[in-house]
Amino acid sequence: MAKQAFPLSGVYGLIETGPVVLISTRWKGRESIMAQSWHTMIEFDPPILACVISESNYSFELIEKSGECAINIPTVEIGRQVALCGNSSGRNADKFEACAFTREKASDVEAALIGECYASLECKVIDRVKQYDLFVMEVTRAWVDPAVTEPRTLHHRGYGAFMVAGETVSLPSEMR
Ligand SMILES: Cc1cc2nc3c(=O)[nH]c(=O)nc-3n(C[C@H](O)[C@H](O)[C@H](O)COP(=O)(O)O)c2cc1C
Repeated sequence: MAKQAFPLSGVYGLIETGPVVLISTRWKGRESIMAQSWHTMIEFDPPILACVISESNYSFELIEKSGECAINIPTVEIGRQVALCGNSSGRNADKFEACAFTREKASDVEAALIGECYASLECKVIDRVKQYDLFVMEVTRAWVDPAVTEPRTLHHRGYGAFMVAGETVSLPSEMR
């Protein structure tokens, strides 16, 4: 392959794990939804993950104060709403209304689950790395629509470009 030098500012678009998720939050009646793609699993069982949530986002304040959120996994069918949630602030808009999303009641967290997402994870913040706006969260409950067998998730390349997943292939591997 004839590789060429690549700008460091674009590296995230090469390695970003995705899928883009929608983090819903609620604290004392205030709520928001943000698009989020800088996240990673760090433990299997109980499932623990780490998410970078910039201090400049309204969602940061709601997660910091409530200590919880829901991570909803959207598919390409609601891509426009995902982009809207990632390019507007819940400080001055009701994103559930703007996206025509359905609020579904969660069991362990106050934040609403997004009905239009095929999976939702109820999460509690268990640790922080303040220097990087990193929240470590334990998933306490997970919900998945079993009818969605090959979810066409979105993977962020930057500036409105997304890769769409969906094909499952089988390869020889013992890894869990
Ligand atoms: C595809 C996509 C991925 C994003 N990923 C992140 C992320 O990982 N961390 C972050 O802090 N902001 C991320 N953002 C930006 C927030 O979603 C955006 O600032 C949003 O308007 C915050 O909403 P809020 O102010 O209501 O919390 C992303 C935006 C898009 C469009």
